[in-house]
Amino acid sequence: MPVITNIDDLKRLHKKRTPKMFYDYCESGAWTEQTFRENVTDFDKIRLRQRIAVDMEGRTTATQMIGQDVSMPVALAPVGLTGMQRADGEIKAAKAAEKFGVPFTLSTMSICSIEEVDKHTTKPFWFQLYVMRDQDFLEGIIQRAKDAKVSALVLTLDLQILGQRHKDLKNGLSVPLRPTLPNIANLATKWQWGLEMLATKNKSFGNIVGHAKGVSNMGSLFTWTAEQFDPRLDWDKIKKIKEMWGGPLILKGILDEEDARRAVDVGADAIIVSNHGGRQLDGALSSIRRLEPIIAAVGDQFEVHIDSGIRSGQDVLKATAMGATGTYIGRAYIYGLGAMGEAGVTKALEVIHKELDMSMALCGRRNINDVDRDILLVPEDFAGRWA
Ligand code: GLV
Repeated sequence: MPVITNIDDLKRLHKKRTPKMFYDYCESGAWTEQTFRENVTDFDKIRLRQRIAVDMEGRTTATQMIGQDVSMPVALAPVGLTGMQRADGEIKAAKAAEKFGVPFTLSTMSICSIEEVDKHTTKPFWFQLYVMRDQDFLEGIIQRAKDAKVSALVLTLDLQILGQRHKDLKNGLSVPLRPTLPNIANLATKWQWGLEMLATKNKSFGNIVGHAKGVSNMGSLFTWTAEQFDPRLDWDKIKKIKEMWGGPLILKGILDEEDARRAVDVGADAIIVSNHGGRQLDGALSSIRRLEPIIAAVGDQFEVHIDSGIRSGQDVLKATAMGATGTYIGRAYIYGLGAMGEAGVTKALEVIHKELDMSMALCGRRNINDVDRDILLVPEDFAGRWA
């Protein structure tokens, strides 16, 4: 087993072991990828304040996200096509999360269905919803989430239309993978991926195929999304979905104070400050830059979480110190999954936990709930003055 010391080690292995089109799908941002890059580089601008001679014994990163116990304030973000990065990827990631004591969020666009993940896990998981035009499908999938062990609904609000990621178009991204010459040539070096994929029945979009009317083969993801996702999704519809669901609701994709206030009005339990990992509106500001202004606007109303750009435990610590009560990793655990399956997801969580725990200690704190802005050194113009 290779020695893995950081998330980049997992990323290198993921690239080596996974078909190019799926690695590229994970590693893409929209258009010029400016927002995708800045999500990461803006975290680097924040520094930590080293403190000394503080008793470091008895540390804990355990806390709660929306009232649920977590071993650290990190959830696995919803990621489409996870079961294409590695066979049964969603089940593997959900199991790793369950053992680690952090929430797993299943994407609507997952390969393994809600029922499959339910069958292979013992603890509740979260479900991310994309709103489709087909009302029967919408009602059906909310009911399926209720029937499974879903303990929070994460409603994504920044993807009524799919952002353009150039690599996906050039690669002809499809599920299942089409046996074209370049794909076959690429697969020749990914034999383990192929063998595991041959052995599973989870090869298409498990939540959708056989459930959405007339969908047996989704062909191109782009065409299908353009036809099926509901571009009319608005705040009224969000209210209706909240009523239909009736449980804890997290709204994902908030980047603006005005939208955060609307989220308060519809009675959300939490929001995720997010630009969809830089995959939707290129040119938007990074999530970490938007975090403090949004917390200033609504942080006393509900929990404010963040995703996009988190690749280390230090990033988790920085976001927590700024006031986020939860963070989400997407790519960071997908690298682990593509690299080594369930063990790789566990490794990603271990790496992040260790970085979080050690950095917290070296900043002079023993309990994640005592971490505050005082441990940070933030450039004065970090949030920026934008007119
Ligand atoms: C879907 O959520 C995507 O970003 O591709």
